[in-house]
Amino acid sequence: MFNLKKVIRPNILTLEPYRCARDDFKTGILLDANENTHGPALAEISATEKTLELNRYPDPHQLELKQQIVNFRNSSPNKYSTIPLSVDNLCLGVGSDESIDMLLRCCCTPGKDKLLTCPPTYGMYAICATVNDVETVKVPLTIPDFQIDIEAVAAKLESDSSIKLVYLTSPGNPTGKLINVDDIAELLKRVTYSWNGLVVVDEAYIDFTAPNGEHSQSVSTLVNQYPNLVVLQTLSKSFGLAGIRLGITYCSTELSKILNSMKYPYNISSLTSDIALKATSHSGLEVMHKYVQSIVEQRDALLKQLLNLKYVGKNIGGLDANFILVEILDKNGSPSNEVALKLYNTLAVDNAVVVRFRGKELNCIGALRISVGTEEENKELLSKFEKVLNEINS
Ligand SMILES: Cc1ncc(COP(=O)(O)O)c(C=O)c1O
Repeated sequence: MFNLKKVIRPNILTLEPYRCARDDFKTGILLDANENTHGPALAEISATEKTLELNRYPDPHQLELKQQIVNFRNSSPNKYSTIPLSVDNLCLGVGSDESIDMLLRCCCTPGKDKLLTCPPTYGMYAICATVNDVETVKVPLTIPDFQIDIEAVAAKLESDSSIKLVYLTSPGNPTGKLINVDDIAELLKRVTYSWNGLVVVDEAYIDFTAPNGEHSQSVSTLVNQYPNLVVLQTLSKSFGLAGIRLGITYCSTELSKILNSMKYPYNISSLTSDIALKATSHSGLEVMHKYVQSIVEQRDALLKQLLNLKYVGKNIGGLDANFILVEILDKNGSPSNEVALKLYNTLAVDNAVVVRFRGKELNCIGALRISVGTEEENKELLSKFEKVLNEINS
């Protein structure tokens, strides 16, 4: 049976969290945290900046923001959800990149434990693993539908108890494909008794699967049912706030307590939480859904036009995120990394249009990943794309 205490590194399990000055007293003449009582070094200060009291350390707990996020996710539960989320299920981080790294440091002993990924996938899992001296074991996604190979993943986990974490990306990057919720649930159940580790589902792009905010495919609301499930989300994508760096980890209350005791106490700045509170409020969510809807429409139109171009092959990935993954062909009609790379370079260097070459990813030969732009940006991309690609293949 799954036992969290055996997944967490012993030094983390016994960690005494840092006690912040503000944990003890919050009001009065505050001379306990070595802050600058005279104020921020700003020649001019806006009314908002003033109310944020930027000379003070930010709130280490962020309960108001957590509550708003929880309300939002509880309002469109997954079909399997039975126990709603509470603020005790959350840990906030500096983007999901911090959450990815924190889970690794929490569970994997350097030079000993391992992490499992399902390529093609987001590159930061393996980078964080390398930085932490943790080996990455790979079980490819199935082809051509980019789903998890449950049997192969389970077999690998059951044969190697040093694997402590599985990182799944749903919708995937660069695949743009949602992982079947049923498959995630099946994997979680299947390994509960046979493997002691955590399945981490990175849902950076999840809101693009429910443009109207209905019928969420997110598994974040399942963490109280599956103690071996962790879900990562971010405000960088659907909320259009990559600049504020806010990531959210959803997990059991037992694990959340450990992650919160591990994190740097003031990792969420007052500027970040101020903007995040506005974005996750009722009016912020309306704007988010409006933009998501528009991005989804633009994405579908862009793909249709790209697929009409000579030398553009198929859409390799799915349509569950704010980008597409298309195959670039040579003059003989074969997917080509050489042509894709040339196209990528010429677009960026001579045409000021930057897309991403992904042809080196597993089962992605000739692939370019294109984030959906505004209508005008997409128009310009299309005309330059067609011109350069025809020149390369002429
Ligand atoms: C799958 C996935 N996870 C996480 C991230 C990083 O998100 P954040 O900006 O929250 O660090 C990205 C960014 O591209 C991503 O594609």
